[in-house]
Amino acid sequence: MKSQTLQRKETVLLKIQDLQQDRHCLQQAGEIIRAGGLVALPTETVYGLGANALDPQAVTNIFLAKGRPQDNPLIIHLEDASQAQQYARDIPDVYYELCRRFSPGPLTVILPKKEIIPKETSGGLDTVAIRIPKHPVAREIIRFSGVPVAAPSANLSGSPSPTTASHCIHDLWGRVDAIVDAGECSVGLESTVISLAGERPILLRPGAVTPQMLREVLPDLLVHHAVTDKLEAGERADSPGMKYKHYAPQAQITVLDADSKEFVEYVNRHAHEGVFALCFEEDVLGLKVPCLSLGKDEIDQARNLFAALRELDNRGAKEVYARCPSKEGVGLAVYNRLIRAAAYHELSPQDTGKKEDGRF
Ligand code: TXA
Ligand code: MG
Repeated sequence: MKSQTLQRKETVLLKIQDLQQDRHCLQQAGEIIRAGGLVALPTETVYGLGANALDPQAVTNIFLAKGRPQDNPLIIHLEDASQAQQYARDIPDVYYELCRRFSPGPLTVILPKKEIIPKETSGGLDTVAIRIPKHPVAREIIRFSGVPVAAPSANLSGSPSPTTASHCIHDLWGRVDAIVDAGECSVGLESTVISLAGERPILLRPGAVTPQMLREVLPDLLVHHAVTDKLEAGERADSPGMKYKHYAPQAQITVLDADSKEFVEYVNRHAHEGVFALCFEEDVLGLKVPCLSLGKDEIDQARNLFAALRELDNRGAKEVYARCPSKEGVGLAVYNRLIRAAAYHELSPQDTGKKEDGRF
């Protein structure tokens, strides 16, 4: 019988500075996972909250620790693509072709699942999402655990995904057994998710592996409309994660589809107490409101977005104007996260006073 309440845990912080010297910490993290515990660990995308994917109670504890809806399935993390056939069936050859190009790395592939994956891990679906992470710390912990590691992002459900150990400490201290600190994540946004379990390959969540890159292997790849648009009322979510509120800070965010000059002018016209700008490097000098810069290109924007969303809360932002990223390349992933954080509230400066809430 599974327990549905999470007991308060003594969390340990394991700092990794050197893979060899801190090997005992990696080993300890792997052993905690093997024994049914919860470990927040770094990957190249975001920090994940890892547990043994084959242990229904351990997986249930992930949902309890995060406050995550139980129908939202977890990604399993493996050391090597050759292990996929232990957990997935009917694997097409193109899966291995994708892995040769993009694994280990920020790509997750959904395949029909084998019986061995418990329904707790797959959220009751008959598919399983598989990723081979590249971060050496994640890889060592998976190897020491000796099990497939189920890991959603290591944040409380609804808040931005964590890109540093301090974000995990903020959200999960006392709710997990260990937090492994290996510094900042290099990509900063969660992995690209594609499904090979349907009639045609489809991209469900954009990430650092872009549609253009994937189309070199999957010329018929579809991009789900929910990547850029809100799901229709009552529409079935092909990926359950699509239907939940995400990444939302306290402030109301408005995405402005504008060039630098238009953005700066619009924001300055709307400057008042509590207004912040989430901008690019080129906008900083002209702005007359407090601002957080995401950097100069979409790689920087991806790396800095989630920390910036948390920082807006820390600084008490009430209203935020965010410069819309390019929807090309990795920019599509930045846009996908930002538009959710903004609850799809987007304007171009030419729009005049006819938005839903009538504020403009
Ligand atoms: O980069 C990442 O993917 C990070 C790191 C830790 O690996 N993990 C991550 O997990 O972002 P999570 O749980 O926060 O997001 C996984 C997304 C969710 O939207 C979930 O609904 C979807 O993948 N997903 C997982 N399994 C699925 C399945 N079998 N079918 C459809 N969607 C699935
Ligand atoms: Mg998540």
